[in-house]
Amino acid sequence: MSEIGAFEFQGKRYEFPVEIGTENEISIDIKKLRGTTGGVITMDPGFKNTGSCKSEITFLDGEKGILRHRGYAIEDLTKKASFLEVAYLIIFGELPTKEQFAKFEADIKKNTLVNEEMKNILDGFPRSAHPMGVLSSLTSALTAFHPEYTDVQSEEDMYNAITKILGEFPVLAAWAHSKNDGKPMNYADNSLGYIENMLMMMYKVPTEKYKTNPVVLKAMEELLILHQDHEQNCSTSTVRLVGSSHASLFASISAGVSALWGPLHGGANQAVIEMLEEIIADGGDVDKFINKAKDKNDPFRLMGFGHRVYKNFDPRALIIKGSADAVLSNLGVTDPTLKVAKHLEEVALSDPYFAERKLFPNVDFYSGIIYRALGIPVEMFTVMFAIGRLPGWIAQWKEMRMNNEPIGRPRQLYMGEIKRDFKNVSER
Ligand code: ACO
Repeated sequence: MSEIGAFEFQGKRYEFPVEIGTENEISIDIKKLRGTTGGVITMDPGFKNTGSCKSEITFLDGEKGILRHRGYAIEDLTKKASFLEVAYLIIFGELPTKEQFAKFEADIKKNTLVNEEMKNILDGFPRSAHPMGVLSSLTSALTAFHPEYTDVQSEEDMYNAITKILGEFPVLAAWAHSKNDGKPMNYADNSLGYIENMLMMMYKVPTEKYKTNPVVLKAMEELLILHQDHEQNCSTSTVRLVGSSHASLFASISAGVSALWGPLHGGANQAVIEMLEEIIADGGDVDKFINKAKDKNDPFRLMGFGHRVYKNFDPRALIIKGSADAVLSNLGVTDPTLKVAKHLEEVALSDPYFAERKLFPNVDFYSGIIYRALGIPVEMFTVMFAIGRLPGWIAQWKEMRMNNEPIGRPRQLYMGEIKRDFKNVSER
């Protein structure tokens, strides 16, 4: 294979180096394009063909439905590792030894006490505030409460900021929920594991003893492992872009939370349940909604369907679909939305519109059904996703800083007015 990518423009040939990744992905390095051509840029809205970085964290093959972190299959990680083990792997590159894991967990636990004054900020929000907005704001506020962690000059500084946010983020998420739910805020209990602690903080009420349901805990741990990283998606690219200006880890993650909130990204898990409920309330006519999704004059899209990279199947969706039945029957829950979801999937997959466009259920299609069975309120679904995605955002931010990547700053093609003379208001 040629190791040069070339193109001709205005009778001149330009050559660019080709780089091949460890999984044989190919990229053309156009760093010198603008300089050598005298100003030509590439145009790629939505970055459908543009690589923004080299990364060693996650490999995914959208055609084959493969997802691996640091070389390990997602199917193995969800079944065999704990949430924090996978987080360590993603952030630091290797599965931890017993000693490394014990230190990592202990260092996170040292950081689970959130400054009491943060509650003043929380008090300022209306109860109806969406928990994602609250979480994004509180995460950004960490910068004010811990200015000593904002300027990272060494790996040690980086480690301290990482364990700080891993410790505080689930507390902030639980507080965002308690605010929304009108319940008192809980503190972390460091005798519990990471996910169990998060569930306890969300659900414990002062009047009753809290007991974790092992089925809920196991399902939640698996679900959140599945969400940990997904290479350069919208929120992760946001974290890297914000972080590329050397904004703090906290500010970068806060931006990631905001990006994840949108219904075309992580917010789809909430949108899926709302869509399924709408279908049921409308009489359950699945075909009607399939037709709406196909109608180019109707803005309706089948939420939980389609993916920028997966064009065959989303391996995470397969794992989740398998768990959905098991979790519901284990908990003795019957959810009519699961039936509608399965019917909708069946109809969509046999419809040429979806087949031609390679639209398949994504990770969010079934996750909401499990969250609901686990007792998570709908407006907290995307917050759960954010807790799951936190290690991935951290790993990507760390990699970007360690590689000394330049500040992210895309170009544009200007299509506005050319130079014109200013007229005073009396002449306009
Ligand atoms: N329902 C109906 N049609 C769809 C859907 C859908 N869910 N998704 C894509 N299409 C159609 C588009 O209308 C377009 O059709 P056209 O070629 O006739 O114009 C074609 O499929 C390609 O769609 P694009 O929007 O160009 O694909 P893109 O890669 O930009 O978007 C996205 C991917 C945002 C995920 C899209 O499929 C979507 O909106 N899905 C619904 C929201 C969703 O589930 N998001 C979660 C994604 S997973 C995650 O972020 C964790």
